[in-house]
Amino acid sequence: MTAYTTTPLTDVTTWFRAGRTDQFPVGAGAVIKYRDRQIAVFYFNRTERWYACQNLCPHKLENVLGRGLIGEQDGIPKVACPMHKRTFSLETGENLNGDCPPVAVYPVKVENDYVYVGFAD
Ligand code: FES
Repeated sequence: MTAYTTTPLTDVTTWFRAGRTDQFPVGAGAVIKYRDRQIAVFYFNRTERWYACQNLCPHKLENVLGRGLIGEQDGIPKVACPMHKRTFSLETGENLNGDCPPVAVYPVKVENDYVYVGFAD
């Protein structure tokens, strides 16, 4: 098992199976649904790391982050909202180029070719 932590793993009570690794785009995002939440899942192929955050952009409350461009800023993996380009750290959820509230980020693990997102509820 390989676990990639964005929030403390000790908080996780549920590992939700999001899909097979080959069902996710390479170097981009996809959106899954967990209960009433839309979650954006990203695979960074260069570093072979996975990240997850809320799909809802806090700027104008649009469910669009899963369609955002991903990249790095000073070594921090980030997603840029496709609407007005606010960028968010996929490690902490912090808005890196503005004064938006942070987005929720979730731990991701890959096990037997399946992607799991961790939730604390
Ligand atoms: S809606 Fe995301 S930056 Fe404006």
